[in-house]
Amino acid sequence: MIYKKQYGHPFDTESVVGSFSPMPETIPHLTKEPDGFSYTMDPQDILYGLGENIRGINKRGWLYESKCSDDPNHTESKSSLYGAYNFMIVSGKDTFGFFIDFPGKVTFDCGYTDLDTLRVTIAEENYDLYIIEGESLTDIVRQFRQLVGRSYIPPKWAFGNTQSRWSYMSADEVREVAANYRANHIPLDAVVLDIDYMERYKDFTVDAQRFPHFADFAAEMKAQGIRLVPIIDAGVKIEDGYPVYEEGLQNGYFCTNQDGTPFVAGVWPGRVHFPDMLNPQARAWFGDQYKFLLDQGIEGFWNDMNEPALFYSEETLKKTFAKIEEYSKQNLDISSFFAFTGMVAGLSNNENDYTLFYHNTKQGRVRHDKVHNLFGYNMTRAAGEAFDRLAPDKRILLYSRSACIGMHRYGGIWTGDNQSWWSHILLALHMMPSLNMCGFLYEGPDIGGFGSNTTEDLLLRWYGLGIFSPLLRNHSANGTRRQEPYRFKNKAAFAGILQLRYLLLPYLYSEYMKAALHDGMYCMPLAFAFPQDAFARQVEDEVMIGESLLIAPVYEQNARGRYVYLPEEMLQVRVKCAEGNRIETSVLPAGHHYIPVALTEVVFFVRKGHMLPLAKGGRDIQTVADVDFADLRLFAYAPNGAAYTYYTDDGEIKDYDNPAHFVHITLDAQGAAQSDRAAVKVEAAPAPLG
Ligand code: NOJ
Repeated sequence: MIYKKQYGHPFDTESVVGSFSPMPETIPHLTKEPDGFSYTMDPQDILYGLGENIRGINKRGWLYESKCSDDPNHTESKSSLYGAYNFMIVSGKDTFGFFIDFPGKVTFDCGYTDLDTLRVTIAEENYDLYIIEGESLTDIVRQFRQLVGRSYIPPKWAFGNTQSRWSYMSADEVREVAANYRANHIPLDAVVLDIDYMERYKDFTVDAQRFPHFADFAAEMKAQGIRLVPIIDAGVKIEDGYPVYEEGLQNGYFCTNQDGTPFVAGVWPGRVHFPDMLNPQARAWFGDQYKFLLDQGIEGFWNDMNEPALFYSEETLKKTFAKIEEYSKQNLDISSFFAFTGMVAGLSNNENDYTLFYHNTKQGRVRHDKVHNLFGYNMTRAAGEAFDRLAPDKRILLYSRSACIGMHRYGGIWTGDNQSWWSHILLALHMMPSLNMCGFLYEGPDIGGFGSNTTEDLLLRWYGLGIFSPLLRNHSANGTRRQEPYRFKNKAAFAGILQLRYLLLPYLYSEYMKAALHDGMYCMPLAFAFPQDAFARQVEDEVMIGESLLIAPVYEQNARGRYVYLPEEMLQVRVKCAEGNRIETSVLPAGHHYIPVALTEVVFFVRKGHMLPLAKGGRDIQTVADVDFADLRLFAYAPNGAAYTYYTDDGEIKDYDNPAHFVHITLDAQGAAQSDRAAVKVEAAPAPLG
């Protein structure tokens, strides 16, 4: 049951598309406060949700703010990252979900001020409150997701391995990356083009010197099974003669200052205007610009810097220079020196700058800070809606950095500028189920870490988690150590781990699609799968991937293994990635176990009575197109048999709900396998994989 109550006159975020009932006279569960709500927590209560955020799966004990921020330091001391995900579940003495539909700042004090009090503060008394009651945690999530609409579904190739770098500087450098991948038998489906493919950082341009004959180049890469995925930034360069700038200006499609002139900010190209993503005409116009790249054979994009990030606003920059002039004449002491450095450091993403510009929305003219969290959402919506017009039958890959609930219908996210830190493997794990609850199923981190220098062991361990996230992308910042897997010593192990991803794809894709189509979770905390288990409720470093699989990645340097909690008897599967993915299996009882995991191994666990439909093949699989999704080996822990609903489609078109895509597969206690579709061949898997 979902209840809604409206306070004041909310801005319509268009996040909600489903139905609900009016709130009872007395709001259930939460206590109304003058500026929000409160809830007194029991010591055992757990707080879930808030999407991509720092700290644990259980959000208790910290203060979080929904305020989309471009911050590359994802440390425990922060309270906001790039997105705004105002959905939470309280689980314990009372279990319910709530969603604050509001486009400005919301604070979730999850026991920070008072250990036992959850306090939600909303910047204005203009919002919608939804309360969701359900039979279980998964039921609450399902209902919430029906409220906010079906999650984005990418093309199947987007489940393949992606290599990225800020930046591959030329077509030849991309060719070299592809050749190295192929030479080492490491599968690869996509190479990302970061900002330097553009002509001086201008959206919807290609540098003709470094990437000549771009359409031919895209076709050449596609012939090798590799898609190019270019970046698009939020800011449009101010430059006479640049058509995107000129058209936007002529039509009044840019965000404006209070006096109606276009607002100027600084980002990569220097001075830019921000397209008014909240103006439906501007949004349609910006979306149409993607055609320039679609027409050259591009089938996937990533939208960046769309909080929107600003290095400076013209206005604050002017004031800063004037002040520097003043400081230059002074003897800088303790206060003036720090005021000076703070002022310069505070130029970027300055909160005050977000109060300087305006949107022309269909609900009237609105100052940006009041609707700040909708910008990235609507940039991605601009692209998603344009793809529906420009290529209606085709799935286009799209992921964004900034997001807000509602955006999950148009694209996925990657989790931004993490670091090559061990703690960020665990952080990536925490984000997966938290994002899934909020509808963001297609997600993944920069594997290997974006900032700082990676190490071979970190990268191997990170892939040990990364092969289970829908977006599997290695990305790193300019100036950091190169981290393509073929650059390291254990090439065979990297090849094995990534081939394992492709062998698992029939299962992973099927689980993704079922989660998207049925408002379920591709990845969930153990507590959601084993709600009665008091230990499972506390586990923060293991998750379920789909219905059959429990993963417990190693995330500490020099660890030769780790403790794993199994809520029930499971099959331990040890994959020896450097040895052609040879596997060893053994049954483990429920309980805590120390599991050794060598650097070149991946260990996962299969639930009893469950199976993984796996692909056949080994080194010959280099792309998703090489995977035969209709010729499966059923890898199961099924002493008494098992049944599985297998989802399979061509991965390109959008007839998602066609019943023909759902195949019923069974395995009996003697190992006889059957599928109810002749087109899908199944057999019980003999070890080894690969
Ligand atoms: C910021 C993004 O988060 C990062 O992934 C990208 O490499 C840089 N922008 C440059 O485009």
